[in-house]
Amino acid sequence: MSDFPSFPSFPPGFVFGAATASYQIEGAANEDGRGPSIWDTYSHTPGRTDRGDTGDVACDHYHRYREDVALLRELGVDSYRFSIAWPRIQPDGSGPVNPKGLDFYSRLVDELLEAGIEPAATLYHWDLPQALEDRGGWRVRETAERFAEYTAIVAEHLGDRVPRWITLNEPWCSAFLGYSVGRHAPGAQEGTGALAAAHHLLVGHGLAVKALRAAGVREVGITLNPDWNVPASDSDADLAAVVRADTLHNLVWTEPLFASRYPATEEETWGELITGQNFRREGDLELIGQPLDFLGVNYYRPIVVAAAPHREADPAKRVATDNRYTEVAYPGVRHTAMNWPVVPETFTDLLVAMKQRYGDALPPVHITENGSAEHDTVDADGTVHDTDRVEYLSSHLTALRAAMDAGVDVRGYYVWSLLDNFEWALGYAKRFGIVRVDYDTLERTPKDSYRWYQQLIAAHRG
Ligand code: NOJ
Repeated sequence: MSDFPSFPSFPPGFVFGAATASYQIEGAANEDGRGPSIWDTYSHTPGRTDRGDTGDVACDHYHRYREDVALLRELGVDSYRFSIAWPRIQPDGSGPVNPKGLDFYSRLVDELLEAGIEPAATLYHWDLPQALEDRGGWRVRETAERFAEYTAIVAEHLGDRVPRWITLNEPWCSAFLGYSVGRHAPGAQEGTGALAAAHHLLVGHGLAVKALRAAGVREVGITLNPDWNVPASDSDADLAAVVRADTLHNLVWTEPLFASRYPATEEETWGELITGQNFRREGDLELIGQPLDFLGVNYYRPIVVAAAPHREADPAKRVATDNRYTEVAYPGVRHTAMNWPVVPETFTDLLVAMKQRYGDALPPVHITENGSAEHDTVDADGTVHDTDRVEYLSSHLTALRAAMDAGVDVRGYYVWSLLDNFEWALGYAKRFGIVRVDYDTLERTPKDSYRWYQQLIAAHRG
């Protein structure tokens, strides 16, 4: 352990945590009245996920949650971020509550509180009830209204025991990977569908904030995955491509949330896809822009952006992500098993730039995810000496500390992820855990990165 990099120091009260999400770890897909979600449908459709992997069993956390809470307790985290599966609470996305679903999260929350760990609940980490997708999914406003009802149910039952609430996780992925790129559930490739989805997700967020406030919960926020877009060159074309990438990934969320306006660059980014839309209503911006207690930021890597022609020549067939840019390689740096470049200082740059853009309108930040998938190798005794992951986490925490020194108000950090888990369309081959999961036996084995994080937290407490 002595060759671990030294620990960056953080102010007293800084929250250290670990994060997971329901479909990625729970399994028990058909138990206790859970209804199907869009990820069940998607992962069971041949060709959608690598090797046909599904979340049917995943880490079997639904049955092993006590063991997982014991791992968190031993790790010493202040807080655990998990997500609630909407189709466990309302199997059809609306109507009566499934008491067994609610009971699972109630038991999980009690177990955490007993271990001295603050629960942080995400209401939507992508597992939309399939019944709602069948009625239009996030393309239609009704889904936002159903989301508010589900939020009210959960807040009424858990609001007094869960202090920190996240409405949506990475709505960019729900809208654009789900309805434009088609690489996430429901796998659609549409023009305005993704833009309508983005708006309805934000409306759903605004309605959920109201429901959470009405239930009197302590802290309410949303988790975004802002990109740090670096131009491939200083040519006018590449600089213009960065503006489009920023609009698509970042401004579409942060402008309505923190400046109560739509991005000034949206028409130049989407052209007729956005000018012809009719999904926005009077009053939506006020709803979306309600003050938040924190912003959750998930950060992994920078993106090098270069100008590119439209992929689809026919304007009528273009999707919302076909906006004349492409991601190119980041030269000269290490890449993780996701082939993501490791450039920790861009984490500082991103946070400082957000603070500069929004000033006091930017709420305090929690880093709700940061971590890396690595090519882990298992020794004969079952141990994983994941030096690369330790180096990734250490350098990113140092970069985070630098952003705080530069004036960004950051209150907490959650490592992604506690466990190896179902990495969406990439299945189980990509391992982000600080605890290894053997998918044959479901046995959990802490990696060196777990021990390193445990020591960092202990050193922080002093
Ligand atoms: C962000 C997502 O919220 C999470 O579900 C995913 O596993 C990680 N990124 C890693 O890709």
